[in-house]
Amino acid sequence: MTSTPTFQDFEKYIPLIGDINIKDPIAYQTTRGVVSVVNAVQMAVAESYINGLEIPDDALIQLFNTCMPVFFKHFPSLLAPYEWVLKESDHLAESSRELMKIQYDLPQEMLNPMLGDWKVIYPKYSMGLWQKGAANLEESQMHMIDDMIEKMNIQDGDNILDFGCGWGCVANYILSKFPNVRFTGLNLSHQQCEYMRKKMQDPESYLSSGRFTLHEGDLNDAQFEEKFDKILSVGVFCHVGNLTQSFRKLASFLKEQGTVFIHIITVRTPNNISSPFTHKYIFPHGRYWNYDAVPNHNKDLKTTQRWYLNGINYHKTFKAWLANFDTRQDIVKNLDYGMDYAKFRRIWRFYLLWLGTNFATCDGEYNGNGQYLMVHA
Ligand SMILES: C[S@@+](CC[C@H](N)C(=O)[O-])C[C@H]1O[C@@H](n2cnc3c(N)ncnc32)[C@H](O)[C@@H]1O
Repeated sequence: MTSTPTFQDFEKYIPLIGDINIKDPIAYQTTRGVVSVVNAVQMAVAESYINGLEIPDDALIQLFNTCMPVFFKHFPSLLAPYEWVLKESDHLAESSRELMKIQYDLPQEMLNPMLGDWKVIYPKYSMGLWQKGAANLEESQMHMIDDMIEKMNIQDGDNILDFGCGWGCVANYILSKFPNVRFTGLNLSHQQCEYMRKKMQDPESYLSSGRFTLHEGDLNDAQFEEKFDKILSVGVFCHVGNLTQSFRKLASFLKEQGTVFIHIITVRTPNNISSPFTHKYIFPHGRYWNYDAVPNHNKDLKTTQRWYLNGINYHKTFKAWLANFDTRQDIVKNLDYGMDYAKFRRIWRFYLLWLGTNFATCDGEYNGNGQYLMVHA
């Protein structure tokens, strides 16, 4: 017996509000057409600001706060600016070299103090955890790593791989807590690797303990001779376009009883999202996977547990980064960014205001971070 179709059955096929993943020809093409208008408007606002239009921060934030809840709640398909955002890419990570150039290999004197650089907590370019009462950025990053240690059940003696290790912050903190843990870090950013190489010579750093190994290289080409008890990857999968290939790779590095912990920016919308502004100026081919994308790819690895971390945590982190960026203008304005500094400053202020505000949209319930614990399938 067939049941009577409900309104929800039809709704899936309606242009703009429908489920873009279904690719019903009329609904899909109409939606893609409207997406190009939305992209053009977003770029017009961003590039007017970048090119010098004086818009006070409060007015920009107000604009984002007005528009974004409508998109997230009612028209999430319009937040997928390109078709590639909706499907897996050919390579595990696309545009890696370009990404290093315009983002991760920028002058360290700008990036590192913006993220915060302390005795044990090195620059960490990912969400801090504020919901447990952190008083400042450093404490929020400590709380986040403590929380990860608990969720991953790290044991002293574990051999751990950090897939996209940044400046070695997570490694340094965990090595400081566990005297017998060993860490391997992989990162393509030459500047960030230089930072870690210096720390590996610094007796005050846990990276100099002989328990840290660094590989400068691309996720796409990663190969290791040993297998790991734990693999973690924090804030990296927004640069990974192919979950199937990446999980196959991670599974091949993992011991039989090992666990993988993936921490990513995520959206609780039916489709993945991105933004034409961030694609052009900040993270080429960056995308934010929807919350179900990881468990929907349980071929070589399967998800055993997952957590959604409210976006307000990232909103506060971005606010702290913007304050650090603004405070150090006298130093950062003299560095070489390969473009006029006034333009660079506007690109980065727009980025920090834009993403920072989006994470607070709808009280942080749509755009936050996802954490996934995975084992061999
Ligand atoms: C957002 S940062 C997060 C860094 C670190 N996990 C943290 O939490 O501070 C992303 C990191 O991934 C690295 N990365 C991005 N694409 C990569 C690639 N194709 N190969 C290797 N590393 C990559 C970047 O250089 C950067 O260190």
